[in-house]
Amino acid sequence: MKIVSVVGARPQFVKLAPIHKAAKAAGVDHVIVHTGQHYDPMLSDVFFEDLGIGAPDVHLGVGSGSHGVQTGSMLASLDAVFDEHRPDWVLVYGDTNSTVAAALSAVKMHIPVAHLEAGLRSFNRRMPEEHNRVMTDHAADLLLAPTAVAVEHLANEGLADRTVLVGDVMTDVLFDVRAQKAGQPSELLEEYGLEPGGYYLATIHRAENTDDPQRLAAVVAGLAGLDRPVILLAHPRVVAKASDHGVNLTQGSLIAHRPLAYPDLIAAVVSSAGVVTDSGGLQKEAFLLGVMCTTVRSETEWVETVELGWNVLANSADEIAAAVTRSAPQRTDAAPYGDGHAAERVVKTLIAAGHSTSAV
Ligand code: UD1
Repeated sequence: MKIVSVVGARPQFVKLAPIHKAAKAAGVDHVIVHTGQHYDPMLSDVFFEDLGIGAPDVHLGVGSGSHGVQTGSMLASLDAVFDEHRPDWVLVYGDTNSTVAAALSAVKMHIPVAHLEAGLRSFNRRMPEEHNRVMTDHAADLLLAPTAVAVEHLANEGLADRTVLVGDVMTDVLFDVRAQKAGQPSELLEEYGLEPGGYYLATIHRAENTDDPQRLAAVVAGLAGLDRPVILLAHPRVVAKASDHGVNLTQGSLIAHRPLAYPDLIAAVVSSAGVVTDSGGLQKEAFLLGVMCTTVRSETEWVETVELGWNVLANSADEIAAAVTRSAPQRTDAAPYGDGHAAERVVKTLIAAGHSTSAV
């Protein structure tokens, strides 16, 4: 059994780690293709090093560009890679331009495609990630859904017969890293002379929040006005847009900081008074770590975090200020994101379905 995983952006490297481990344990020939969508060492190399993935087997080096240029450049390179490897499955992850490019290339070459993290929907047709996930789900042969809600969305779109509920692989990696890091304080405490619980941890990178100058200025003002220091782990996109728009990312309570490696990020969440973010992964990580999250968006794909009281959607400065100072919800035993063994289930499902595909 040969699986080619195609990844390119930071959250995909995190999801790749438990899949790679499970694939190796099952004796699968696992080929890793990095599109090069993310290339800064702090957005790419540190994940391969820290999470024990090793180096990618193939690196396409596409870099940044408009959606069409970036996705097109990946498509142009992937045909040859798939042709050379002729895998039993191409596995694509999440909702980035790397995801849709790999799905489209593989499906046109009649190579079975599996989509990990299938079925998520924001129902916001302006989000690039929504385009990517809808198109990928409808192109793929096997839909590996992380949650019951995702399974429901896929059924509503007529895709139930291709869907398998496997759980969320981000839970797998989070549990592993939490066990390794247990009790170690965040490096941010020493760097800024902070106490545990003495700061909020923020990330803002989505196009909806960064691309319009007024919107970015309003979000930054909201964070700068909060009642304790806000450490902004600044993605290169927000740094570039802030510079273009003349917005200062260090002002008032707000302090811009470089992005953190995954284990340091987890420690920083654990030590914080709360997370303020527009990242999908961080909403779940905060939930799984029992830290309150405020999401700077008008909708979320991870509705369970909101329903269980651990996440609040907030858009204006006033809404963000009210949300971060709310009281903590009741602890919950609910485990909507699985049991930490999703990756093993993914690999088992691919092996079983791969055999039936080759028998046809
Ligand atoms: C991408 C994904 C988004 C995901 C995010 C995780 C798409 C459409 N979006 O957004 O879903 O949540 O990754 O981080 O695929 N840049 C650098 N160095 C890098 C990468 C990017 O400087 O290594 C800068 C460039 O200015 C680039 C901009 O960030 O133009 C945007 O990068 P891009 O890969 O297009 O999308 P992200 O915003 O990272």
